[in-house]
Amino acid sequence: MLTRRQVLRLGRGFLAGLGAIAPACAFRQQHKLAAFESLYHAPLASNLQAFGMDRPDALKDYAAARNLLYGAAANPHGLSDPVFTAAFLRECAILVPENELKWQSIRPSPTQFDFSQADRLLEVAQRHHLLMRGHTLVWDQALPDWFDEAVDRQNAEQVMTAHIAAVASHFAGQLHSWDVVNEAIAVPYSQRSDGLHPSPWLELLGESYIETAFYAAAEADPQAMLVYNDRWLDYDTPRDNAQREAVLNLLEKLISKGVPVHALGIQAHLMGHETRFNADRLRTFLRDVASLGLKILITELDVTDRDLPADVAIRDSIVATAYETYLNVVLEEPAVVAVLTWGLSDRYTWLSSYEPRPDGLSVRPLPLDEAMNRKLVWTAIARAFEQANR
Ligand code: G3I
Repeated sequence: MLTRRQVLRLGRGFLAGLGAIAPACAFRQQHKLAAFESLYHAPLASNLQAFGMDRPDALKDYAAARNLLYGAAANPHGLSDPVFTAAFLRECAILVPENELKWQSIRPSPTQFDFSQADRLLEVAQRHHLLMRGHTLVWDQALPDWFDEAVDRQNAEQVMTAHIAAVASHFAGQLHSWDVVNEAIAVPYSQRSDGLHPSPWLELLGESYIETAFYAAAEADPQAMLVYNDRWLDYDTPRDNAQREAVLNLLEKLISKGVPVHALGIQAHLMGHETRFNADRLRTFLRDVASLGLKILITELDVTDRDLPADVAIRDSIVATAYETYLNVVLEEPAVVAVLTWGLSDRYTWLSSYEPRPDGLSVRPLPLDEAMNRKLVWTAIARAFEQANR
């Protein structure tokens, strides 16, 4: 098994060996690897293999032993694949439809709802005693083609609240939780001091659309945990530091007004090449969110290996370490109740099309490989659950 230093030296050797790289760039790459090496002082998968990928337990079992839920995003394509489905049912205790509860999927026209795909996913979950969570009632993406022409300042609130009422009541009492509002904040793209994303909902309704959505969801499904879900909350970078501050301010404002928000969803789309990770900053953010009385879900965890070396042993180890380093911090927070990866197998990941590797090699961001074999990522997640200091 490669030791952490061997992995990184290999990686450095790999990069330095690329003679085409100009010395300055090689230095930057080596510097980046050195920074990576200094940061991830955790054994870089050196003994993860020893942890045992051949254990009978599944990720859901390791999670349940620490009073946590583990699950993943799935879609009808994956669940029509018996090999994937068997692995999904083995490893997961909760399912989130990747796209089947978005407006684009359930609203064929301004007057119609089509729950057929989502109902099928719910049926699979219920048949196999999995929970299901909903994603997402209000977002500025995945809107149907008719939206722009049909929705204006006069009818926007009625359109939004009627959508929430119809969708949330259709599944009422059957879902663990709902991402009621997704990605309302995008500090880099906002002209506002509160960092709100310039979405159609904000433009048509003003910032009150967020609380309006939560009140509508609470009325339609009083049993579901109501979640505000967002991204870019993970690293010690100017963007993520600003995003965490804005999200915390939003949550404080909502809670102070008595808006029925029950949890923060942290998407956690991580990057294997990103070394600017500060455990204390993340820990403090989680603690601040929990101090509002909110639960926390890690809702879309994955680690892109797009910018990592081609060598599979190297990038699998770097990706696994990114998972373990992140989860070791997150799982210390008692308010964290669930971890979902955005997909379970490299055979079905959004990153294949959204963030493909420049070298054309298959991406490897998830716990299982394309043949459903457990990878170092699986071991890293299992070990993080097993050793969680909570
Ligand atoms: O279903 C249609 C198909 O009929 C059509 O032929 C095809 C042609 O483009 O598009 C298909 O829809 C695609 C859909 O995924 C289902 O595959 C959409 O174009 C495509 O935009 C959509 O991408 C999804 C994306 O959200 C946008 O909704 C990704 O699969 C999904 O992984 C991604 O997930 C998001 C979360 O919802 C929010 N957080 C970020 C995360 C990653 O971007």
